[in-house]
Amino acid sequence: MKVATVTLNPAIDQTVCVAALVPGHVHRAHTMLFQAGGKGINVAAFLAASGCQVSATGFLGRENATLFERFFAERGIVDAFVRLPGQTRIDIKIVDEERRQTTDINLPGLAPSEEALTKLCQTIDELAADCRWFVLAGTLPPAVPASFYATLIARLKALGRLTVLDASGEALAQGILAGPTLVKPNRAELEQLTGQPLTTLTAVAQAARSLLRHDIRRVVVSLGEQGALFVEDEQVLHAVPPEVTVESTVGAGDAMVAALVLAELRGLDLTASARLATAYALARITRLDGALPPSSVLEHYSERVQVYSLVARPAEE
Ligand SMILES: Nc1ncnc2c1ncn2[C@@H]1O[C@H](COP(=O)(O)OP(=O)(O)OP(=O)(O)O)[C@@H](O)[C@H]1O
Ligand SMILES: [Mg+2]
Repeated sequence: MKVATVTLNPAIDQTVCVAALVPGHVHRAHTMLFQAGGKGINVAAFLAASGCQVSATGFLGRENATLFERFFAERGIVDAFVRLPGQTRIDIKIVDEERRQTTDINLPGLAPSEEALTKLCQTIDELAADCRWFVLAGTLPPAVPASFYATLIARLKALGRLTVLDASGEALAQGILAGPTLVKPNRAELEQLTGQPLTTLTAVAQAARSLLRHDIRRVVVSLGEQGALFVEDEQVLHAVPPEVTVESTVGAGDAMVAALVLAELRGLDLTASARLATAYALARITRLDGALPPSSVLEHYSERVQVYSLVARPAEE
């Protein structure tokens, strides 16, 4: 069964490298790179690289769609994007090589018309004919109501399809009320959702567990270098990554989301899912090229992930 990912507000990531960034000064940049970006697109790329049949939909600006079209063709991702007049936004990333810091300048993106939103819903209905899982990931474009993910989740649920929601703010809050199958907030997103600081693992676990009442099967809270909590039924697992040399944390969450879907497709239990999801995140952060390493590397990471049952774990943070 196929998977579909939905990216409503993709971007072209334009990376410029400078020796040292000084605001207000002229810089000589030496590397410039344009990459297809957007959370659902990243998830689709990880899934395709893992041998999944995947379709990607959402909105693309017609005027600069070529970069995305090439990206999809190279990876065998089925392009089901609805085209909008104009250009997909360009997000500028300025890499300061001395400080190893990245400054991001993100633009709001194209606002789809009512007609385009209707077309997207039709596309999603069509994809539901042979896609069992739908990944809804990333920010909503301007003028799209915060309830849009909730609407899609309800629609897909009615068709008997399964959904993963990776969003933030109001789109996440409303989406959760519609009961996605799986949800993956990071700590900050969960804090915003609950309106409280979540400084201990126990507090994160409680907040995550409270979401299960919305007909959500599994909640995964990613905690950066502290790993992630995996919550389902009565179980709360903490997957702790081994120490690794981090090259870039960009897209760690997207790699994790892709692996969560893979784990479902493979029928893995919560512990095995936690290992796989963490291994994918590690594979992402230890490389700069964003490519999926060979399965032997993934297995190696997976074996080194420590999984604790939170209740049984003696020491707390
Ligand atoms: N510095 C790190 N060291 C080890 N593992 C990390 C580190 N940063 C991230 N990870 C791994 O990647 C997973 C996802 O990372 P993170 O919590 O940063 O997701 P996110 O905030 O959703 O990221 P994204 O920016 O992709 O949305 C973590 O649960 C962890 O397993
Ligand atoms: Mg994230």
